[in-house]
Amino acid sequence: MKHFLPNGDELIIRSPEPTDAAGLLASFQRLTRETDYLLFTYGESLDLEVESEEDYIQSYLDHPNQLLLVAVVQGKIIGSVNLNQSGHHKKSHTGEMGIAIESAWNNMGIGRRLMTAMLRWAEHHPDLQIIYLNVFSTNEKAMQLYRNFGFMECGRLPQGIIQRNGTYTDLVTMYKRVKPAV
Ligand SMILES: CC(C)(COP(=O)(O)OP(=O)(O)OC[C@H]1O[C@@H](n2cnc3c(N)ncnc32)[C@H](O)[C@@H]1OP(=O)(O)O)[C@@H](O)C(=O)NCCC(=O)NCCS
Repeated sequence: MKHFLPNGDELIIRSPEPTDAAGLLASFQRLTRETDYLLFTYGESLDLEVESEEDYIQSYLDHPNQLLLVAVVQGKIIGSVNLNQSGHHKKSHTGEMGIAIESAWNNMGIGRRLMTAMLRWAEHHPDLQIIYLNVFSTNEKAMQLYRNFGFMECGRLPQGIIQRNGTYTDLVTMYKRVKPAV
């Protein structure tokens, strides 16, 4: 789907192809270098290889009940959102999401658009009723984005994250019900 950013650039939101592996990996590595709000460190992201990224993309193509969308600006992948339905039958009505957009493209509404696309998809999913995510308690902007879409905090693991400089951060769980219980 095509959108236009406040600066006039075209934003495309689409499913990735295996040929996007190098671009998706490069974007993820830039992200882990510039933000401490992701679980992966930059060093860990450097251990990933294009082949494993191809497998990662292919796993979404092979499982159409899981969602991975990329955001493309100026021909480059600059962010993504994913939503993974639990593989366990007893949790099959729940899905965990993740989102990240490179800082050069923040505050232009891309997060809002990726969230909207992900939620529309979830609303039409045959099983999903609840979407949840984990966010660092210091990541006020991400939590505000989630609140804007009706996500609510439902749990907190005190000091669940240790940053590389040794400081602890709580890990907050947020959720949104996208369909009523049946
Ligand atoms: C969090 C993130 C996804 C937001 O993406 P984005 O494209 O900048 O988001 P948007 O421009 O759509 O803005 C989202 C909302 O954040 C809120 N917001 C913006 N700046 C904020 C700030 N400094 N403090 C609090 N809320 C803020 C606004 O409510 C905004 O919504 P609005 O423009 O409709 O009012 C992005 O910053 C990111 O990927 N960060 C690094 C990785 C990360 O933290 N991922 C989430 C891990 S749980």
